[in-house]
Amino acid sequence: MSDSFPSQVDLLAAAEALTEHWSPRVVARVNDQYVKVAKVQGVLAWHAHEGEDELFLVLKGHLRIEYRDRPAVELAAGSLHVVPRGVEHNPVAEAECLLALVETVTTRHTGDVVTDRTRTLAHQLRAA
Ligand code: NI
Repeated sequence: MSDSFPSQVDLLAAAEALTEHWSPRVVARVNDQYVKVAKVQGVLAWHAHEGEDELFLVLKGHLRIEYRDRPAVELAAGSLHVVPRGVEHNPVAEAECLLALVETVTTRHTGDVVTDRTRTLAHQLRAA
């Protein structure tokens, strides 16, 4: 799998260009992390990433990260939140929301849960 990305990325434009909700696209790699953009609306799925933290940065709109064992985190545009490894979470967007994500290259975006929203890494590495 080749990791070939543009040298400059407009995150907001890249997220706006997505046509499917909850289907992240990788736009850059930094060491062992991927930077992804996503367009989301509604509820993803309860899941956890056992060994990996996961960063959410809201580009446009509003995102809520729900937790079972702690209060939900409400993120406005410009805000970021790191979901700790091993903690069950569920991202929810009441209205369409544009995001950037930073995830370890081995992270599966719905963790160990497979839903109809789960996308393969190859799909996330698709060309724009
Ligand atoms: Ni997650």
